[in-house]
Amino acid sequence: MSYTVGILGSSGYVGGSIKRYFQKIKAPLKLYDKYKNEGSVEEVNQADVVFVAVPTPYDEEKGGFDLSFVTDAIKLLVEPKIIVIKSTVLPGTTNDFQKEFPQHKFLFNPEFLTQSTAEQDMQFPDRQLMGYTDESYTVAGQVLRLLPLAPFEKIIPAKEAETIKYFNNAWFATKVVYANQIFSLCEKMGINYETVRECAAMDKRVGPSHLDVLHGGYRGYGGACLPKDVRALIQLGEREGSSFDLLKKVEEINNHLQKMETTTQKEVVTTDNNHTAPELKEFDIHITQNRGK
Ligand SMILES: NC(=O)c1ccc[n+]([C@@H]2O[C@H](COP(=O)([O-])OP(=O)(O)OC[C@H]3O[C@@H](n4cnc5c(N)ncnc54)[C@H](O)[C@@H]3O)[C@@H](O)[C@H]2O)c1
Repeated sequence: MSYTVGILGSSGYVGGSIKRYFQKIKAPLKLYDKYKNEGSVEEVNQADVVFVAVPTPYDEEKGGFDLSFVTDAIKLLVEPKIIVIKSTVLPGTTNDFQKEFPQHKFLFNPEFLTQSTAEQDMQFPDRQLMGYTDESYTVAGQVLRLLPLAPFEKIIPAKEAETIKYFNNAWFATKVVYANQIFSLCEKMGINYETVRECAAMDKRVGPSHLDVLHGGYRGYGGACLPKDVRALIQLGEREGSSFDLLKKVEEINNHLQKMETTTQKEVVTTDNNHTAPELKEFDIHITQNRGK
């Protein structure tokens, strides 16, 4: 079956990346972005499958995790649709929407892109997960096939898919804070953190991501997603009586780090203890000789 694809939030980071993917494969598209003046409500209502990529901020004044943009966007869809939520939403949200708007079939497809490499990440994902409800299970495979192929693909219940997105972002935040604590120790002891980081990351169980200690000139994690998603997960834990003591500490340390408008990458390099270069040189020669070059 061939579907016409629509996007709500088509000019945002996530919505824009989906849009460019479908444009690239020359699929007909129906767009609407409320605040960026793209497409229209009428246009997006012509689609069969609508991706929802609107914001889900954390707003203390609105009670924390704010689902209102997603709810408002869904309410714009008149006829029954397959709705694929790309926005990061708390576990249980897709099932709740399924109950509230039974005329639609809801899926949750977590987006794992990083803003700085959005196009690449969207078009060449390392995994493609499709979260279903009881009502959308039968269409999950067809919708999955609309998306870029990934080396790992799995159709799973929506609740699990929603949790995986938070698992990842909370882990990245924790990793950044851990790296910062190692960095602080390195600074105190005159150890070159860059060398430690590079070599520790070569262990594939560690990996190179989220080991930079700076974000936008400040220490710790920042950006559009990690702070709000960590906050939302802590709030969910409180609500469910499953307290995230670890994440609370991560957040507390991060808040402290963010106040430290200190180091730049250049300064990081100057923590070098001056012994590195000669030792490395000898080591290089040793390896080269062993390899018979
Ligand atoms: N930016 C990322 O790196 C990233 C990565 C993965 C997941 N996410 C998640 O994806 C979601 C969107 O994030 P983003 O960074 O693309 O946000 P964004 O602010 O860049 O884009 C959201 C777009 O939605 C539009 N919009 C808001 N309400 C609308 C409505 N009712 N109808 C139509 N359009 C509407 C806005 O005008 C905006 O252009 C969030 O839940 C976020 O957590 C973001």
